[in-house]
Amino acid sequence: MTLEDVPTVVAWEQQLFPNPWAPQHFVAEITNSDVSVALVMEWEGEFAGYAVAWIVADELHIANIAVIPRYRRRGVARATIEHLLDLARSRGCTYAQLEVRASNAPAIALYRKLDFQIVGVRRGYYEKPREDALVMAREL
Ligand SMILES: CC(C)(COP(=O)(O)OP(=O)(O)OC[C@H]1O[C@@H](n2cnc3c(N)ncnc32)[C@H](O)[C@@H]1OP(=O)(O)O)[C@@H](O)C(=O)NCCC(=O)NCCS
Repeated sequence: MTLEDVPTVVAWEQQLFPNPWAPQHFVAEITNSDVSVALVMEWEGEFAGYAVAWIVADELHIANIAVIPRYRRRGVARATIEHLLDLARSRGCTYAQLEVRASNAPAIALYRKLDFQIVGVRRGYYEKPREDALVMAREL
């Protein structure tokens, strides 16, 4: 992801999430490249989605991932997460973790398929609507 991608990313973020990240949040992720990995995914040259992850010490944290509706169920998210897992391994990480809304069945199915397991619940973690987060994790 580059600064030029931010308007497109934010437009989709606002459509796809009830509590979207602000533009400056994405800008901070792009400029904080010591820790952040900010990606844009393309399908045949067209914008297909975006992802942000953090690599801190021995842990990969997947902070945000979205695939726009027209490119879903083509393996875009799966390939992106597999790329992030490989990158994290190459940087010495041993563990990957993320939070997901308890009602987000597609995302939970995606993470399970990639061998993440539910390791905890954060009560009332999300707003709009207030909802628990499942903490999912796997070793690398
Ligand atoms: C969740 C999301 C990122 C999945 O993206 P995607 O590119 O469509 O996912 P993939 O095609 O890589 O799917 C890989 C596997 O995940 C599972 N999966 C993905 N979407 C699913 C759905 N809607 N229902 C059930 N399983 C699903 C399937 O096992 C799928 O494999 P299959 O297609 O061979 O059955 C996408 O639906 C999305 O952007 N949702 C809105 C934003 C969001 O919720 N992000 C996650 C926040 S934690």
